[in-house]
Amino acid sequence: MVDVDVTIRLLTADDVDGARAVQMRSFEAHDRAAGRPAPEVTDATLQRQLGRFRHFMTHDPDGSWVATLHDAVVGTALALRRDSLWGLSLLAVDPDVQSNGIGRRLLAATLRYAHGIDTAVILSSSDPRAIRSYAAAGFDLHPQVRATGPVDRSVLPRSNGRARPGDVSRAEWADGIDRRVRGAARGPDHTVMCGMAQMFVVDDSLGSGYAYLRFDGRISTVAATDDETATALLWECLAAEQDGERTIDHVNGAQQWAVRVALAARLPIQPAGPVFWRGRTPPASYLPDGAYL
Ligand SMILES: CC(C)(COP(=O)(O)OP(=O)(O)OC[C@H]1O[C@@H](n2cnc3c(N)ncnc32)[C@H](O)[C@@H]1OP(=O)(O)O)[C@@H](O)C(=O)NCCC(=O)NCCS
Repeated sequence: MVDVDVTIRLLTADDVDGARAVQMRSFEAHDRAAGRPAPEVTDATLQRQLGRFRHFMTHDPDGSWVATLHDAVVGTALALRRDSLWGLSLLAVDPDVQSNGIGRRLLAATLRYAHGIDTAVILSSSDPRAIRSYAAAGFDLHPQVRATGPVDRSVLPRSNGRARPGDVSRAEWADGIDRRVRGAARGPDHTVMCGMAQMFVVDDSLGSGYAYLRFDGRISTVAATDDETATALLWECLAAEQDGERTIDHVNGAQQWAVRVALAARLPIQPAGPVFWRGRTPPASYLPDGAYL
């Protein structure tokens, strides 16, 4: 055990590079252990990851933590609080010192930031240590799948014309959807999400919602007042004029509409790490974002 020498403290600007390196190393090792190639780290990936740490340090300083050993960062955890929702965005421990209780201590530190908050969410990896820790912290486990692959344009249904491109000027309106769908606005998170994705919006007599299609092809969020509107938004993300594969992530049993779209689009569906909720069941017409929930 090395945890006796480990310090758990709030993240500072000087820790950001080290914390990002720990994030990289731990998820590379996680992917290797699962027999998956680690995703390529482009300059855009690097900037997105560094931007995430800075965003949390600015907006959630009390939810942003590191573990240090002899002054080097060996673990990190980021949690956000928006209205009455707490969410864990990141938990990672350097592979050299994993299974020594560091992850458990970091999680406990971020959970202090959930004090007084009823509803909480964690998008888990499939690491058994992560799953054990979240379940032990009183969260309910909901299995998830992910669908990823190239889109066969010949299977795309004719657009019903409901979805339109959106931009950051719709952030306040989108916050209203977020409050209805997941009980909490995104606030400053919309600005950062708009910077790395194309936004689509639906706002008509049938329903309202928005989606983000990230420039790397990941559908990072769908949030809508009803499943039909969520379905229209998801199809729009698949049909958008953007090269490359698409990934529909974080789909659980409450989101059969997303399973139906993935099947119709012939995207292979695979098991993924579970989502954990505390204080409520998963919202239905909603696919969360991996970093900003
Ligand atoms: C998941 C992770 C953060 C856990 O941190 P850690 O310091 O390695 O884990 P801990 O030592 O705190 O152990 C957490 C729990 O798992 C148990 N555990 C430890 N090693 C284990 C193993 N090999 N298999 C199963 N459980 C194990 C611990 O006993 C502890 O449970 P307990 O509190 O009931 O005793 C870390 O392993 C990691 O970075 N993994 C890769 C990235 C990742 O998946 N992050 C989670 C994203 S949601």
